[in-house]
Amino acid sequence: MIKIALSKGRIFKETLPLLAAADIVPAEDPETSRKLILDTNHHDVKLVIIRATDVPTYVQFGAADLGVAGKDVLMEHGGEGIYEPVDLGIAKCRLMTAGLVNAKPVNGRKRIATKFVNVTRKYFESRGEQVEVIKLYGSMELGPIVGLADLIVDVVDTGNTLKANGLEPIDHIADISSRLIVNKAAMKMKHERIQSLIDKVREAVS
Ligand code: ATP
Ligand code: PRP
Repeated sequence: MIKIALSKGRIFKETLPLLAAADIVPAEDPETSRKLILDTNHHDVKLVIIRATDVPTYVQFGAADLGVAGKDVLMEHGGEGIYEPVDLGIAKCRLMTAGLVNAKPVNGRKRIATKFVNVTRKYFESRGEQVEVIKLYGSMELGPIVGLADLIVDVVDTGNTLKANGLEPIDHIADISSRLIVNKAAMKMKHERIQSLIDKVREAVS
């Protein structure tokens, strides 16, 4: 059995053609089905539908053999037990700091609201800046507006969400795209099957 962990929404949509290139076609649409494990056209390949941030955890512990996760999520999670063999070039965006347009300079330690607390700590540490990091689970853009934080760290694509909330991008932390990830033990135990899938997906990407 091969289990592939995917999140609904943009990753699922953009991964579908790549899976199709490896002859894997889901039997149902996760946007309409309430099932968390989807059958495919192969009796021994299942898709596990989970939150985007949970994908590296499932793959690390071998609850899924493979998965697709954003580099932002992977940077935050860390790479333990996981190979990252293919950059799928999908769900592209940038991880950035952002703040209110015309914000006043901050006296003392800046407060940074983000769901990427590990990445944020490392980033400011690498700049020699001591900051207070506030963990949020979404809608980071609200932080500076309501005075919870001076800055946010979030992914930016068009910049429309920042703009709509009176914020602007400031510093670029990393370019982001989604990666095919593989459990290290599964890569050994199910080598032939997984390697063939990786090769087909890699070919579809390039
Ligand atoms: P969770 O449901 O676990 O909170 P999420 O809501 O961030 O995660 P998605 O919005 O589906 O999940 O994002 C999945 C991945 O797509 C992110 O990890 C990121 O790499 C990328 N991404 C997020 N927002 C954008 C965007 N606006 N444009 C392009 N790629 C994006
Ligand atoms: C993501 C991210 C930003 C937005 C950036 O949210 O959290 O808010 O996209 O994209 P933009 O620069 O093109 O506006 P998403 O739309 O995925 O919503 P969610 O985080 O609530 O799932």
